[in-house]
Amino acid sequence: MPLPEPRVAPSILAADFGRLREQAAEVVAAGATVLHVDVMDGHFVPPLTMGPNACAALRDLGAHLDVHLMVERPERHVEAFAAAGAGTIIVHAEATPNVHYALRAVRAAGCRAGLALNPATPPAIVGEVAAEVDQVLCMTVNPGWGGQPFIEASIGKLRRLRAMLGDEVDLEVDGGIDEATARTCAAAGATLFVAGTAVFGAEHPGAAFRRIAAAAGADAVATG
Ligand code: DX5
Ligand code: ZN
Repeated sequence: MPLPEPRVAPSILAADFGRLREQAAEVVAAGATVLHVDVMDGHFVPPLTMGPNACAALRDLGAHLDVHLMVERPERHVEAFAAAGAGTIIVHAEATPNVHYALRAVRAAGCRAGLALNPATPPAIVGEVAAEVDQVLCMTVNPGWGGQPFIEASIGKLRRLRAMLGDEVDLEVDGGIDEATARTCAAAGATLFVAGTAVFGAEHPGAAFRRIAAAAGADAVATG
């Protein structure tokens, strides 16, 4: 089932952690219905970030929590994130030999199931698990850090992914998303836009969120 509009998901990775709830509440008040939570384990990607406690701290804000697991063997953590209030749980195709099993485990835990692809991972794998996914995350940077530049080759990959996916499957982009890249990704078929630095690095995160949402929505309508 696709997520409701508007579909820009601020990534709390770029928030001031000393004011995490305040900053998350600001973007929710500005209209954000989805918050993106980046979980990193120091193995699949070098940094360590947050765990289920971060979800639990934000669940009562009323936003859908889009949990991006950049961890090895993500299937081992599905239940903990579901219990902490995750709405969607995204596993990386490169992080487990048991992708199909992991996606089924996410749905069995009552969450929407997402599959993330690193920049070098071919889209074809999605065809093997099409019945198991509610959302595909096309990484538009290499996972691990906020603030990286958008990889332009992602646009062609997005078009290929969109052609493979039914209308009920969300196509998410993550990394280097601002007003300009949201616009080009929307034109290539993306429906959910993660933005960290462009939202929380701005002087007024709520206003920045609204600008990116407008940019993403405008061209999505224009291109049908
Ligand atoms: C990167 C994370 C992203 C990150 C995006 O590994 O998955 O969600 O927060 O940050 P920006 O929007 O700054 O590229
Ligand atoms: Zn992410």
